[in-house]
Amino acid sequence: MIPVNEPLLAQRELEYVTECVRTGWVSSAGRFIEEFEEKWATYCGRRYGTAVSNGTVALQVAAACLGLKPGDEVIMPTFTIISCALAVVYSGGVPVLVDCDPRTWCMDVDQVKSKITERTRAIMPVHIYGHPVDMDPILDLAERHGLAIIEDAAEVHGAEYLSGRRTAHPAWRRCGSFGTLSCFSFYANKLITTGEGGMVLTDDSKLAEKTRSLRNLCFQAHRRFYHEELGFNFRLTNLQAALGLAQLERIEEIIARKRWIGQEYNCRLSGIPGLQLPMEEPWAHNVYWMYAIDLSEENGMDATAFGQKLKQRGIETRPFFLGLHEQPVFHQRGFFLQERYPITERIARQGLYLPSGLALTPEQISQVSEAVHEVLA
Ligand SMILES: Cc1ncc(COP(=O)(O)O)c(C=O)c1O
Repeated sequence: MIPVNEPLLAQRELEYVTECVRTGWVSSAGRFIEEFEEKWATYCGRRYGTAVSNGTVALQVAAACLGLKPGDEVIMPTFTIISCALAVVYSGGVPVLVDCDPRTWCMDVDQVKSKITERTRAIMPVHIYGHPVDMDPILDLAERHGLAIIEDAAEVHGAEYLSGRRTAHPAWRRCGSFGTLSCFSFYANKLITTGEGGMVLTDDSKLAEKTRSLRNLCFQAHRRFYHEELGFNFRLTNLQAALGLAQLERIEEIIARKRWIGQEYNCRLSGIPGLQLPMEEPWAHNVYWMYAIDLSEENGMDATAFGQKLKQRGIETRPFFLGLHEQPVFHQRGFFLQERYPITERIARQGLYLPSGLALTPEQISQVSEAVHEVLA
């Protein structure tokens, strides 16, 4: 079976993790945590980083930082992982949804404006499968309406966006540099992994302090076991940060490899009728986190049937997200009843991603591509 993903760990990871074991710094103190936070923040063009235990809780910390009141709304795409809505619901807020763009699968930025009400507090853009969201219109709306941005950059480590392309000074900026608070996951299938892990980035020193406090049970500096706020234990360990730091040292190599995998698949799969491949807008650098494809209904198959046929040929795949508005857990709580988002509903049934791990060989890419041709012939 060719797995849908496999992390590629190297000698430096082993050295750093061994140092933790040798020195006994295996918990949530130790040199690697701060170094990883500082270096990841700098890499993304931010001032402060707070490492946490995964990407889901990174979003939860970010939402908690905004101090949402019951009924406060956060606009997000329906085509995303459940973590985005959980963060808002746990904070007492209301997720408000928009559909996605049929080409990039990222949030349809034109729909955001019509969803802004007097209860809106934030917008949560989510970069999907390696391709950035069109951030300029979001930044513009956020500024005009005084809204915060929680940027979910879990799937786009190192991806870039051409900001200000309609101005005299356009500039490429890394994803994760746009949010009031920007969140990452370092789960094992991400470009950079810590096994399980996440981070919240910001340029605001007060928000940074708040993220650190929330992560660590809201202990106080002057009177440790005295608590004035509800906190969490969302700490990352030095062992995990050691892994992340070693990975970060070769991020350019990792991105180059992901882009190479994307281009190899593009060459082999382009021209198949009724198969939409990942794209790259002129204002975006895609890092092809996952090589995602969208199958037209004309092929007489949905993604489940297509995935089954690939599995029979020794190839593992994953279906696309099912939209947040179709999740029973939210219907039970009265959210999104009767709401319809046709693009998301279609791609949730017709989309899947192919093996995209860093350990993929050219032979495996050929094998996967031939199987796709065969199934769709
Ligand atoms: C867009 C997005 N946000 C958040 C997460 C949650 O990250 P984690 O699995 O580390 O909790 C993921 C996970 O894949 C994701 O794809």
